[in-house]
Amino acid sequence: MNREVQPARRLMGEVRVPGDKSITHRALLLGAVAEGDTLVRGYLESGDCRASVDAVRALGAPVEDAGPGTLRVRGLGPAGLREPGDVVNCRGSGTTMRLLAGLVAGFDLTCVLTGNDSLRRRPMGRIVEPLRQMGAVVLGRDGDRFPPITVRGGALRGIDYALPVASAQVKSCLLLAGLRGQQPTTVREPGPTRDHTERMLRAMGARVRAEGAAITVEPAARLAPLELVVPGDLSSAAFLVAAATLVPGSGVLIEGVGVNPTRTGFLDIARAMGANVRLEGERLEGGEPVADLVVRSASLRPTKVAGELVPRAIDELPLVAVLATQADGVTEVREASELRVKESDRVATLVSELRALGARIEELPDGYVVEGPTPLRATTVSSHGDHRLAMALAVAALVADGPVTIEGAECADDSFPGFFEVLDRMRA
Ligand code: S3P
Repeated sequence: MNREVQPARRLMGEVRVPGDKSITHRALLLGAVAEGDTLVRGYLESGDCRASVDAVRALGAPVEDAGPGTLRVRGLGPAGLREPGDVVNCRGSGTTMRLLAGLVAGFDLTCVLTGNDSLRRRPMGRIVEPLRQMGAVVLGRDGDRFPPITVRGGALRGIDYALPVASAQVKSCLLLAGLRGQQPTTVREPGPTRDHTERMLRAMGARVRAEGAAITVEPAARLAPLELVVPGDLSSAAFLVAAATLVPGSGVLIEGVGVNPTRTGFLDIARAMGANVRLEGERLEGGEPVADLVVRSASLRPTKVAGELVPRAIDELPLVAVLATQADGVTEVREASELRVKESDRVATLVSELRALGARIEELPDGYVVEGPTPLRATTVSSHGDHRLAMALAVAALVADGPVTIEGAECADDSFPGFFEVLDRMRA
């Protein structure tokens, strides 16, 4: 589906964003093995999270509607997950596939995981290798590198594993497998990645310790069920923060957004560029920090992004390029080659589409360089089926000199259903 986005004169209002995608996936998967009913309030009702709902059902745990915006997961507890009767389709969700592989690895069952064209191109060797070290039998297509993957679970040993890439999905996969290990499992991170799994496991009674970059989980036969309120997704709010920053005269309040410090790299980058973002009413909800974001438009300067900022802003790095097109000077993003193995090769697709809009952007092996400011022009661009790219292009369109058509814009629903409607409501 194509979507035409008109330039905006100013963005105003109070808005909410849908529930956090990472936390929704984790609540569903961990709820399935908890002892009793887990209630997930304010869950993200999106394409990606539906894949986790269906997967959990296929493993024998009922998931039911429990009122507006709420799901109930009937945890299987010590009875354990059941072997699915068919291949489990994770659609486009890397989180579903990688976390599920770890979750099932400690059970006596065989599970085949596949996904859509995009997911079947994403690297799985990063989970196959350590899960094998733990004692699971794991096979994948093309030399065990790509989905479909097959996991034959069983008794697992705890391992001490240094992650070759900073990835919360791989870390979480191993922590979930570690719950069923015969010894503790330690995962060492090259850089800080989102710690929602650790927080949720602790809330369910598991013993998880973080000592610097090493996270250790003790085997846990029983997990207590949760009643959880999912905060708004900062990765979705980021598009509105960028939009209100770029469109002159804007002032927007985004309520109830998760501001876990392992996720706030984009806010740090945007502020370093001169963005005017204030956190109000900071509070703790369900073990996660939450705040309201107050954003006013601002003129921007360039910045450099690398190191620990990269995993803390990984999903927002396409959006940083959009800000950079309007900043006065050269912005560089490096050490971000992980962008190339997301829903699309986000370096290649970003560079081709922003160039079509008139941006001066160069591709690097591990990131990109943008020279601003450049006027952006009315044209047609493609989402390449990548939700974050679709939304980043929509934000760019707000400051273009005429309407921009985004091909394949419907994929925004994978993480932010109603995105275009929220943008339209903010138009003063
Ligand atoms: C996620 C981790 C990140 C992120 C993805 C969600 C998670 O992926 O890009 O959108 O929920 O753990 P990696 O762990 O592959 O970096």
